[in-house]
Amino acid sequence: MSEKKLEGEYCPEKIYFSDKHAEVYCYRKDTPTELIEKILAYLKEKIPEPLEMAADVGCGSGQSTVILAPYFEQVHGMDVSAAQIRQAEATRSLPNVCYGVCPAEELPLKDGSVHLLTAATSMHWFKVDLFLTEVRRVLCDNGVLAVYGYMSMKPDFGDPEVEAQLDRLYNEYFKTLEPYHVSASLEMFKNKYKDVDFPFEEVVRCPDVRCRFEGRLVDIVNYVSTFSGFQKCVKENSTLATECIGDFQKRLYEIGATFKRSPEDTVTLYRDYQLILCRKTNK
Ligand SMILES: C[S@@+](CC[C@H](N)C(=O)[O-])C[C@H]1O[C@@H](n2cnc3c(N)ncnc32)[C@H](O)[C@@H]1O
Repeated sequence: MSEKKLEGEYCPEKIYFSDKHAEVYCYRKDTPTELIEKILAYLKEKIPEPLEMAADVGCGSGQSTVILAPYFEQVHGMDVSAAQIRQAEATRSLPNVCYGVCPAEELPLKDGSVHLLTAATSMHWFKVDLFLTEVRRVLCDNGVLAVYGYMSMKPDFGDPEVEAQLDRLYNEYFKTLEPYHVSASLEMFKNKYKDVDFPFEEVVRCPDVRCRFEGRLVDIVNYVSTFSGFQKCVKENSTLATECIGDFQKRLYEIGATFKRSPEDTVTLYRDYQLILCRKTNK
């Protein structure tokens, strides 16, 4: 399918299609190992090792794909945006990982061939019913679909007051960018896909998984610059985009300064992951 057709049919907003947007994706961190291990523990309850094939759909520039490589013989990363796939191939290439351009709604995979299929911060962009039908087709018996993602990345200063302050900061950032968001997608994600009826025999909606890692406050500013709403705002109203991210940065750095942390200091950051695990059992 041509790039133009993919854009028109599966991503009418054309978000994610520019090389510029794909390049800023280098600021998105890889999925944490602890989250993948939680997913694998669920998968291995019913499928013995060796694990053969995993597929990561809406893989962006491979942040959620490479993390699967140590556990599977073969991993496919797929995305509707050729720009994102070019970036994945350039920055996250591994011998047992292959990338391809294709829509989530038409996966080039054989029936019953996949052990694990992941959709990381991506399913809300798809035509969900078509995607889930495809997932059922390609998963093997006892195969697992893991839908997961996170919204905010925050410093862990161990103070609930500061956490509330950071929540307000994110909320205001989103509010300013509201006219530039594809709201249906954002709402579905914010609501943790609660209205999605997953057509699987087992569906586990896990409590949020908090994952900590070492990073810098500047990483958070870079991360919020990857949001699709922000990137759309940059294109359509660059003055507002500069003001909006400038305000976010100023307030975040002020919070850091109260803990004597500069933007470049190493601090503990965290992401709260929503996670839904589905198993196809053919029963
Ligand atoms: C927020 S990014 C997530 C990237 C990556 N999985 C991660 O964890 O950072 C969402 C991705 O979904 C892709 N996408 C959107 N609509 C799609 C569709 N219909 N089929 C496949 N990929 C799609 C976008 O191009 C984008 O790369």
